[in-house]
Formats: sequence, structure tokens, C-alpha cells
Amino acid sequence: MKTGRVFSGARPTGRQHLGNYLGAIKNYVALQDDYDCLYCIVDLHALTTLDEFEDLRQNCAEMALDWLAAGIEPAETIIFVQSQVPQVTELHTILSMFTPLGKLTDLPTFKEKVAQHPHNVNYGLVGYPVLMTADITLYRAGIVPVGVDQASHLEFAREIVRTFNYRTRSQALIEPQMKNTEFPKVLGTDGVQKMSKSLNNDIELAATPEVTLQRVMSMVTDPQRARRTDPGRPEVCNVFTLHQTFSPAEAPSIERECRAAGIGCVDCKKILSQNINAGLAPFRARRAELAQNSRLVWDILDEGARRARVLADATLQDVKAAVGLP
Ligand code: TRP
Repeated sequence: MKTGRVFSGARPTGRQHLGNYLGAIKNYVALQDDYDCLYCIVDLHALTTLDEFEDLRQNCAEMALDWLAAGIEPAETIIFVQSQVPQVTELHTILSMFTPLGKLTDLPTFKEKVAQHPHNVNYGLVGYPVLMTADITLYRAGIVPVGVDQASHLEFAREIVRTFNYRTRSQALIEPQMKNTEFPKVLGTDGVQKMSKSLNNDIELAATPEVTLQRVMSMVTDPQRARRTDPGRPEVCNVFTLHQTFSPAEAPSIERECRAAGIGCVDCKKILSQNINAGLAPFRARRAELAQNSRLVWDILDEGARRARVLADATLQDVKAAVGLP
């Protein structure tokens, strides 16, 4: 028995990396057992910060392939691209009338984006959280699994829902709950910053075993371990963190050997790379199979959008009635 509806969205960043998997996708897959899930590739949100558009469509497809290969089940879960359900833009417009401008410009996430993209502070960027609220409420999702970085957006969404329902004296929208996806932040190969494609410190899920080895070899380990004979500190080493996920059986002995300088970083990384490659082999095989038919992923996304539009129409009808639109 499924006990509610989950919605989550992610920007189309193309091929996904270990951080995306451990931080979000793994959880998306698990939630399918207990909830009716919608997972959305938010291409309209991506437009708020893009300078170039050539790769957007391909990035959506690559991301969807990773989701599917990882175990998102399109027969149950609705997996779709945001812009293919244009109702979301209509709800966004209506919700924007219930959104005080100052609330948007006060959000820390907005200020960060302004600092990152000072040359492109567009109207859509200001409304980013309104569009996100439209995503969630359009499908009447009660639960939204996101990382802590999205907490202020979720709180914002809840406020807009309360305001909307109060001012329209309706129950047209459902107030969503945030479900904090608890996982330790996955660091990139630099060992300092969060794993991210734009920082080029990522390890792609779909990488070849050779590229995986190269990337793992480039990982920064305990900076205090200057010589092979120095004891290492696994608790500050990102290679060890990944061992805990990908080498659960060997992790205790690796930890011991690292502290005793019994194993060097090079060997430690070789083992990690082997275990990542072994662990991801079934994923990679499934992905290659899915990618063979280039239409397949778009057929799945089109069908997801079709199912999503049915839910969207029902909500939009109630919302329009609540504000007196014909
Ligand atoms: N803002 C989210 C991010 O940057 C992506 C997103 C868009 C989202 N719409 C959403 C997440 C709805 C959860 C629910 O990661």
C-alpha cells in the first residue's frame, strides 16, 4: 500500500555523478516502495541560469537514462520533463500574485545566485521558488525529498500555500512536508568541495572503468600524510568515505591499515576504483542497453508527461475556480 505522493525535481545537469546518486537518486529509488512518486527534470528552472542552450535537451535525456538505469521504475513512477507540462507555468503565474516580492529577494538562495550570476539577474531567477512551489503543488505532493540546501524553498512553498488557501478561502492546494534526505555530503575529488559537475571534481556513474580509475587516482587524500610511511587519518580522507559506501566489507581493515601506514594511498585508491567499477557494473550495463534505442528515453518521458498532465489539469481547475478565473 502506497501512503502518499512524493514529488522531487532536479536540474538537468546531464550525466549524473556519485554525489547525485548517493545524495538523491538512491533515495528516489527507495521511496518508490512506499509512495506514488513523481520525479521531474526541471528544465525551466535550468533556463534561469543558462547562458547556452544547445545541451539542454541532451542533458535531460542523459539524466533520465541515469535515473532509469539506477532503478526508477517508469511503470509506477512518473518521470518527466517539467516544460512538457505547461500547466506549471500557468500555476506559477497565478501563485506569483500571492507572493510578496520582498520574500523572494530576501531568500539566501537568491542572493547566492545573484553573486554567482551578477550579469544575468533575470525576472525568472527571482521567481525560481514560485516555480518550484508550482511544481510541488500542481501534483498535490505531500512529501518532498530534498537536501537541506532546499529547506528555505520548502518553507517558502508552505507559506505560499497557506496564503493562497487562506486568501481564496479554499483548500485548492496541499501544504507539502519536506523530507530531509539524510546523507553525508559527498565531496569531490578535491576532497574539499561538494561533488559537482561544474567544479569538475566529479566521478560520473556512467564513466568507463578506466576513467573511473583516473578520477579516483586524482583524489586528494589526508593532506597530512605526506609520505607513504606516514600514518593516515581515514576520518578526514574522502577516499575512505567512499570506501564506506563501496567497500563495506573491506572498510574496517582499510581503516586499520591506513592508520598503521600498512597501506598506501595509491593501493587504497586502486581498491576503491575496483569496487566502484564492480558496484556500478550492473547499472552501466542497464544504461548502455537503454541508450541503444535513442527514442526509448523520450518515449518514457513523453508518457510521464502525459500522466502528469492529467494530475495537473485537475489541480489547475480547482486553483482557477478558487481565484475566479473561468
Ligand atoms: N530547486 C531544486 C534544486 O535546485 C530543484 C527543484 C525544482 C525542486 N523544483 C522542485 C526540488 C520541486 C524539489 C521539488 O535542487
